[in-house]
Amino acid sequence: MSHLADQHILVGITGGIAAYKSAELVRRLGDQGAQVQVIMTDAAKAFIAPLTLQALSGRPVRDTLLDPEAESGMGHIELGRWADTVLVAPASADFIARLAVGLASDLLSTVCLATPAPVYLAPAMNQEMWRKPTTQRNLATLEADGITVLGPASGMQACGDDGPGRMLEPEQLINSISGPQVRGALEGMRVMITAGPTWEALDPVRGLSNHSSGKMGYAVATAARSAGASVDLISGPVTLPPPRDIKIQKVQTAQQMLAAVEKGVSKCDIFIGVAAVVDYRPIQTAASKIKKDAQTLTVELVRNPDILAQVAHRPNAPFTVGFAAETDHAIEYGRQKLQSKGLDLIAVNQVGGEDSPFGSDNNQLTLIGPHDEVDLGLDSKAVLAAQLVEEIARRYHEKSST
Ligand code: C5P
Repeated sequence: MSHLADQHILVGITGGIAAYKSAELVRRLGDQGAQVQVIMTDAAKAFIAPLTLQALSGRPVRDTLLDPEAESGMGHIELGRWADTVLVAPASADFIARLAVGLASDLLSTVCLATPAPVYLAPAMNQEMWRKPTTQRNLATLEADGITVLGPASGMQACGDDGPGRMLEPEQLINSISGPQVRGALEGMRVMITAGPTWEALDPVRGLSNHSSGKMGYAVATAARSAGASVDLISGPVTLPPPRDIKIQKVQTAQQMLAAVEKGVSKCDIFIGVAAVVDYRPIQTAASKIKKDAQTLTVELVRNPDILAQVAHRPNAPFTVGFAAETDHAIEYGRQKLQSKGLDLIAVNQVGGEDSPFGSDNNQLTLIGPHDEVDLGLDSKAVLAAQLVEEIARRYHEKSST
């Protein structure tokens, strides 16, 4: 049975050409057994007729905040309470801006403010509008407040531009909201996650690091929290807002990351190493800035501890999951790492070329366990993180019952 069966899903539609995809979204939600209530903004009605959504959802579309007739039935507060999940798709730049400042200027923004249910936004807009600092600032504010942003995807846009701003496909949106969060697959469990890069200082201003943005690790932390786990996130230097309801500890170096992990790992049931730990650190860090007088400079490096392998080899080790980013032979090297590091599961991706996952909102993952391989394909990091958490929960329970 689908996770969405009998769930109350409130679908908000705002003004944008992607609104045509919302019809398919509503139909597919209905197919999964969800009960769907659509709320449209005035701008949305310029793109798609309310009658279409009424026919597909089996309920009259709601669109007015101060409608005495509707308010005497299910008013805006009741609508917010009715919803198990709110999904705004498409979410326009204007709607995102209104939500970010807490405006309750129409029915949809008011319900988003009034609901205790998780709110998901699927932005869709022109790539310039998406890239504008104002839009990014508004989204960061909403994410820090606990709203989940799904996508957008990159590609050709209705306006002829090519870039980020395409709404995710209905199937991707449904996967995102129907993940383990609905089920509480990790209820009562403690999960520790490392994320982001580490920074190994050469001197007070320079250092060795890598391109990791922390987005995958933060998405896994959010998905594990949504699945009911209590989450300890140990993060290298990233610019992401701290996810809600998650204990976060910021570190710089691999040695600091290891110390933070060692402090709490004995209490955790599951450990997920997503961090891109820098493999070597300078043996010495210069106390003051290194001057560029000499033509050559030799820096001696020493291997950093392998945090993941150390966790996996502990007595009474938690269920241990690693990540591997490889430029070639990704699956083969992934399988070798699963063995050599002593892991229960490894998530492998191919890096390099045009689709590098570093900094991107998308990724492509294959999961390798001791006896099988599951290709999760290319998707948003939020969708992949939910699928990964679901796989981890299933395998963890299987392992503990044998
Ligand atoms: O060996 P490699 O760096 O490819 O392994 C990647 C996996 O190991 C990731 O899960 C990463 O978080 C973890 N790792 C670690 N400590 C290191 C190197 C990698 O925890 N020093």
